[in-house]
Amino acid sequence: AKTHHRTFIIQETPCTRLCNTKNILTVNGQYPGPTIYARNGDTVVVKVINQGNKNITLHWHGVNEPRNPWHDGPEYITQCPIKPGANFTQRIQFTEEEGTLWWHAHTDFDRATVHGAIVIHPRKGSTFPFPKPDKEVTLILGEWWNADVNEVLKKAQMTGGDVDPSDANTINGQPGDFLPCSQNDTFKVQVQQGKTYLLRMINAALSNEYFFAIAGHRLTVVGKDGSYTKPYSTDYIMITPGQTMTILLKADQLKNSSSPSRYYMAARPYNGNLLVRSDLNVTTAILEYRTNINTFPTMPLFASLPEINDTNAATAFTAGLRSLASWDHPVDVPKTINEHMYISIAVNTVPCPGNFNCSGPLGNKLAASLNNASFENPPIDVLDAYHYSIPNVYTPDFPNKPPFFFNFTEDMDIIPPELFLTQKSTKVKVLEYNTTVEIVFQGTNILGGENHPMHLHGHSFYVVGAGFGVFDKEKDPLSYNLVDPPYENTIGVPKNGWVAIRFKAANPGVWFMHCHFERHTIWGMDMVFITKNGNTTDGKMLPRPHDMPRC
Ligand code: C2O
Ligand code: CU
Repeated sequence: AKTHHRTFIIQETPCTRLCNTKNILTVNGQYPGPTIYARNGDTVVVKVINQGNKNITLHWHGVNEPRNPWHDGPEYITQCPIKPGANFTQRIQFTEEEGTLWWHAHTDFDRATVHGAIVIHPRKGSTFPFPKPDKEVTLILGEWWNADVNEVLKKAQMTGGDVDPSDANTINGQPGDFLPCSQNDTFKVQVQQGKTYLLRMINAALSNEYFFAIAGHRLTVVGKDGSYTKPYSTDYIMITPGQTMTILLKADQLKNSSSPSRYYMAARPYNGNLLVRSDLNVTTAILEYRTNINTFPTMPLFASLPEINDTNAATAFTAGLRSLASWDHPVDVPKTINEHMYISIAVNTVPCPGNFNCSGPLGNKLAASLNNASFENPPIDVLDAYHYSIPNVYTPDFPNKPPFFFNFTEDMDIIPPELFLTQKSTKVKVLEYNTTVEIVFQGTNILGGENHPMHLHGHSFYVVGAGFGVFDKEKDPLSYNLVDPPYENTIGVPKNGWVAIRFKAANPGVWFMHCHFERHTIWGMDMVFITKNGNTTDGKMLPRPHDMPRC
């Protein structure tokens, strides 16, 4: 195992998209940012230098960071932000993760431009659980706003309304052939007939779930988040913010001299609730066969994608993902559960304080909640408050169930008013070391209803079940998959359905759990787990680093 050293300089960089130039925050001037390469077992030490104009933190999404919450990154959860002019050195250790992950800013809306891929190869002497591809290609899906992203955030906060939709969807930072001033920079992948390519896909978007397909080609998913899956052949994928997929692509379509040599790769939002968002542009990249048969550049063949609101297509894709569950990559699903949690996910409104002029929907500010608690960032980070036993920063009373029961999937006009309004709080759930946890996330229809990509820091979890409607605690567990459930860090919870996950709290520390739609994160669709130290040395948090940023 090796230790790699990297320097990440946060800086303002001019960037031109959609005919306009503006300054964006980047790492080392790159957008998307630099890729981190490592092998399973390696450590990467990143010196983060903030030469930007605002506070920032960086998070290594999907890396468990065993015993080391100090370097996990979410602002006011595990650290105070790195101020302009300050530095912070973070260690990223890969102990079980293998495949495709990513890193991103974990402050405000900075993640829109401050993100990049993490590629983790098998340990030396070990191999992929599939034939070695000829080449690897990283494809990052994202969104572009013409306005400054933090102005977009401020505007939404001031009006109490929703966040303006993005102006373009992007592949590797490029809007593609169908958006203004973009054609010359469309991302292209050159391939050779007969070769196999490994696509490393990341959904870095703030708000959009995507369908993605390549014209004329099938995709074989072989990895999801930080672990391998059974090879899963499909015409399209659905990927939600925070998720990553590793996909094999066989370039097998240049069959004769009349075959087209160029094919579109395309992504378009999947949106189960068209009332909520409307940034619907298709973003494209091009797969181009290297050949001297077709000398004339022809219009690429168009990719066919499921309809924007095709929930059946989205659900069918996700339901097909299975862990590899091989001798080399065994599954270890907790069978006895110590903590059963049932978490309702909702977008609500908060009562307007005194004379504040709230002009959001219904005259209130939008809020979001888990078990009717709308999470508020504390003024100093939860980890320090826990470590130094500082009172009044958080309360250890995150409930195991929603405070009220009702049919979560009914129309919103019959929802009890207590659930429509919510209060701000900073509630955490404290777990004993090695507790086995099952969480059933219950999607709701409150305020229209959306899918929510729930992401847990510090752990991967097994997705043992999913379904539509209200979770039935007698019947639904009978259909759990405990044999080869996918092992993930971000799972989409359908608006009218539920998802069940299991994990073991064997990582002492403070770990954030939240919806990976950035606007829901800031509205409070978050909570925190504190896993206490175990008795042995390797069951305890590492010592607090000396260079932790100060609040
Ligand atoms: Cu990818 Cu807490 O985030
Ligand atoms: Cu959400």
